[in-house]
Order: sequence, then C-alpha cells, then structure tokens
Amino acid sequence: MNDVLAGLALTKRFGQTVALGGVDIAVRAAEAVAIMGPSGSGKSTLLHCLAGIMKPDDGEVHLLGQRIDAMGERERSALRRTRFGFVFQFGQLLPELPAEENVALPLMLGGVARAQAVRQAREWFGPLGLQGMETRRPGELSGGQAQRVAIARALVTKPAVVFADEPTGALDQSTGHDTMRLLVEATRANGASLIVVTHDPNVAAWCDRTVEVRDGKLLAGGVPA
Ligand SMILES: Nc1ncnc2c1ncn2[C@@H]1O[C@H](COP(=O)(O)OP(=O)(O)O)[C@@H](O)[C@H]1O
Ligand SMILES: [Mg+2]
Repeated sequence: MNDVLAGLALTKRFGQTVALGGVDIAVRAAEAVAIMGPSGSGKSTLLHCLAGIMKPDDGEVHLLGQRIDAMGERERSALRRTRFGFVFQFGQLLPELPAEENVALPLMLGGVARAQAVRQAREWFGPLGLQGMETRRPGELSGGQAQRVAIARALVTKPAVVFADEPTGALDQSTGHDTMRLLVEATRANGASLIVVTHDPNVAAWCDRTVEVRDGKLLAGGVPA
C-alpha cells in the first residue's frame, strides 16, 4: 500500500446519529486533500477518526500500513505527537508563551532540550512571513499571524500528515485566503500530506483533490485517481 493514510469502511455513531456511514478514504505522500460539505455532515468526525483522536465504531485506519485505530490511547497519543500535525480554528496557542516557544512545544514534549527546540522553532518564522514575531505572545499577534504560528507548530516535528479543521474560519476572507495558501504550500514543501476541512471553494484549487461529504458519506473523491 503506497498510501500514507487510509480509512476503510469508517463508521461512527453518536446515539441515533450516524456521523460516518462507511467511509473509504486514502491519502498519498505529500498530497493535499480538501474536505468539503455542509455543517453536520461528518467532516470533523472523519478528521478525528483518521487522526486517532476518536476511535471509529467500525472500520480501520492505517498509517503507512500500520493499523492505528486499534491502538490504546497512550500509543495513539504518542503517534499524534510524532507523526501528525494539527491546525484548528483558533485558541490553540498557549497565551502565556512567546510565539517561538509555542512552536517549540511539540519538540520539547518529544524530549528535545528547550534551547535546541527554540532554535529549530525560529527557523520557521522567516519562511512563514513571521520574522520579528518570535518573542511576541499570542495576544500580541493578529489572527492571521497566530494561525501562521500554529502552522509552524504543526510542521516543526516533520509530521507525515497535517490535519486542519476549518483553520481560517475565524479570519476575514482575504487573510483566510492567504493563510490557507501558506498552509497548503508549506505542508507540500515539507513533504507532508494535508487533510483540510474548508468552506472556501478556492482552497480546492490549491489542493490536489476535493472530497465531498454528505450525511456521513463521501459523494466522490475518497481515493486518488
Ligand atoms: N460528540 C458528539 N456527540 C453527539 N453528536 C455528535 C458529536 N460529534 C458530532 N456529532 C454529530 O455527528 C454529526 C457530524 O458532526 P461533525 O462531524 O461535527 O460535522 P461537521 O464537522 O461536518 O460539521 C452531526 O449530526 C453532529 O451533531
Ligand atoms: Mg466540523
């Protein structure tokens, strides 16, 4: 299997609600996939199952051929920290830490010494248009800058896959656009795959593929052509 990440027949229910009704999806190396669909259609549930945040009721998730849905929480948590990066809508940076330490955090959690982690973190500020912002706290950054710091934090561990759930939902349209483009480009430049939930049809143009979700099922596009 040359897919980096694959979900097979994924099913997830919340009480009577079928959030995922048997979804097959596969993502190749360095491929960017946009996930679109109406509110409540199951996009976040799909992302959480693929990322090992949530266990599906049925079906399987494979990362580089290794089955991850059956792992215990401890193992999945270590996997999320080392192989995955995450960008959420907002409020994900720790307000009391300078930007560079927010970016360095996943490295420090993985055992890299603070000085070394911060040195590595700083290397991301130039490429992401954040030069000069290294020691600012999140409250001293604009919404777009804060999301770029979050992108740096998602990439700093060199993950296999970056997951982003409506990462620009809290930004104005033009800033959201620029941020999304940077997310797609920076992820691709680092050889990571990207799975991004978005309402912006333009994002599909920068991604390699768009997957449409309706009522817990994929309309099309789940597997690479
Ligand atoms: N933790 C939960 N408890 C109960 N129902 C949930 C939970 N998470 C999601 N759902 C339901 O599952 C369906 C899919 O939700 P979600 O994946 O969040 O959709 P989307 O991200 O596309 O808006 C919705 O009907 C939602 O109400
Ligand atoms: Mg959602």
